[in-house]
Amino acid sequence: MDKLVIRGGAALRGTVRIGGAKNAALPAMAACLLTADAVALDNIPDVRDIQTTRRLLETMGVETDAGAGRARHRVSLRAAEITHAEAPYDLVKTMRASTLVLGPLLARTGRARVSLPGGCAIGARPIDLHLKGLEALGATITQEHGYVLAQAERLRGARYAFERISVTGTEDVLMAATLAEGETRLENCAQEPEVEDLAALLGKMGARIAGAGTPTITVQGVARLHGAEHRIIPDRIEAGTFLLAGLITGGDLTITHCQPAHLKALFERLRQAGAEVRVAGDTARAVAGGGRLRATAMTTAEYPGFATDLQAQYMALMTQAQGDAEITETIFENRFMHALELNRMGAQIRIEGRRALVHGPSALSGAAVLASDLRASASLVLAALAADGETIIDRIYHLDRGYERLEEKLRAVGAAVRRVGNLIPAPKHHAAAAQG
Ligand code: EPZ
Repeated sequence: MDKLVIRGGAALRGTVRIGGAKNAALPAMAACLLTADAVALDNIPDVRDIQTTRRLLETMGVETDAGAGRARHRVSLRAAEITHAEAPYDLVKTMRASTLVLGPLLARTGRARVSLPGGCAIGARPIDLHLKGLEALGATITQEHGYVLAQAERLRGARYAFERISVTGTEDVLMAATLAEGETRLENCAQEPEVEDLAALLGKMGARIAGAGTPTITVQGVARLHGAEHRIIPDRIEAGTFLLAGLITGGDLTITHCQPAHLKALFERLRQAGAEVRVAGDTARAVAGGGRLRATAMTTAEYPGFATDLQAQYMALMTQAQGDAEITETIFENRFMHALELNRMGAQIRIEGRRALVHGPSALSGAAVLASDLRASASLVLAALAADGETIIDRIYHLDRGYERLEEKLRAVGAAVRRVGNLIPAPKHHAAAAQG
């Protein structure tokens, strides 16, 4: 199992190019199921969740032609015929976003059998909002043996208000609605840029959608969709992660090929904390300015609020700020696991339910730590970059799910980071037994 070994202390300086958004690419890839034509996607990040999704689509009969080498950020998908309208447990358990195939499979073939995702490190993560939305469009949903079975002769447009905002819930039901008969009106939708990007792709495929990126989306169903070409938006979470990495090391990083408009909530907090954030076109630059940053409270919220996916990384930065910062996590019920590992590195963080109180600054020292989920791992990387000494981060497959070549990008701006395999070789007799 790979580990990252990071020696802290270097101030990161230079420029980092941001890749395509994983959370826009995943629904875009699922959307290919809605048509028999080829869908070509560009600016796809080369990360594990994308590979998992390609494999999942291939099990359904989708022809996938991923560009090799430089073109590896491009994939062409063609669901000419869907031979297997099912998402199996062994794939869904590794990536809950697999539930994004539910809506498209149902709309295209009239049935879908998808494993229930089960919980994950950051919470229970049910999909009841997805299922209620599909039922509103006329699907019959049953659950058996850990699977959801959805069936519908023909989906019919309907009005459906999400009881609570769900990003992939909005995306799943939106994709189903594009082929439903008549008009669908979805209320209390997620407004994330990734939802808007999916709607842009669906529009290029012939769907008739209005209001994506606002709480209310209306769809006029059509009989079929056709192929399209689409470039995925930049990854705002990767962008935010690197800006925070620059700040926590007292450095000066410029990120390029990003969409600064997607990072307004982060920029507002960073400026409040005393950082200098300069935006120009598709670049953004953050510098700690003179002296320490000020502890600044933050509450996560659905877009356009502060992204929950940047909460852990922001918490790492606040361990180096002057004073007490109160961080409130409103989206997931268990998204503070990184705090326990940060405390092992010397941070002073107290957890009270959904609130974390960070007292800073605290001197961080390198330690052996464990990654628990994708963004918690990023938080540990940031802390390690600012810590005195060497940190070994284990289970970094979590990082590989959503960050492409992270250690290369960090090394290019001055970080002392390397990836190693198992540090402790398995004892000989174990190895012999394994071959026995
Ligand atoms: C998306 O997950 C993202 N994943 C997550 O990013 C992100 O953290 C999350 O949105 C919130 O922004 C993808 O887009 C692939 P939700 P999603 O449905 O859609 C509850 C990352 O790091 N809920 O918006 O699964 C849910 O438990 C990942 O890249 C229900 O109760 O999140 C949560 O508390 C992690 N019932 C809240 O709503 C449902 O049917 C928001 O979840 C669905 C969700």
